[in-house]
Amino acid sequence: MKILVLNGPNINMLGIRETIIYGTNTYDDLCTLINNYAKENNIDVSIMQSNCEGKLVTYIQNAYFDKVDGIVINPAAYTHTSIAILDALKAVNIPTVEVHISKVSERESYRQISYIRDYAIKNIEGEGFNGYIDAIKYLKDYLNERNN
Ligand code: DQA
Repeated sequence: MKILVLNGPNINMLGIRETIIYGTNTYDDLCTLINNYAKENNIDVSIMQSNCEGKLVTYIQNAYFDKVDGIVINPAAYTHTSIAILDALKAVNIPTVEVHISKVSERESYRQISYIRDYAIKNIEGEGFNGYIDAIKYLKDYLNERNN
């Protein structure tokens, strides 16, 4: 099972940015957590991050050609603005889980729009880094069930 974990702008600044909201663990810590879980569960995971909207679109398009089975995406601030990311996800039509580290539904009004919310098969927020693991678990069960 091939899973792409995709992170948007400023996620590489975890551990430095707004630690009260996002915690003191770093982006490297997040990657280690995901890689360890994937290894233990025999999942072929690739983790990508970009600060550029177009690069995120390209990574999503590449997922189609790389035959990725599921996508976990935290589009970060692009969640609230990007029709291009939504269109790319619709184009590749790969089961996708939306993740946010913080509880966005309880934050500023400008964070209340998510262009991908209705498209994603599941939405996870406010669970910190564990949200990514829960997203992978959800995709794993979803894909196993679909293939049986
Ligand atoms: C975030 C929430 C977004 O509103 C914000 O722009 C981020 C991170 C989260 O993981 O909580 O950069 O997606």
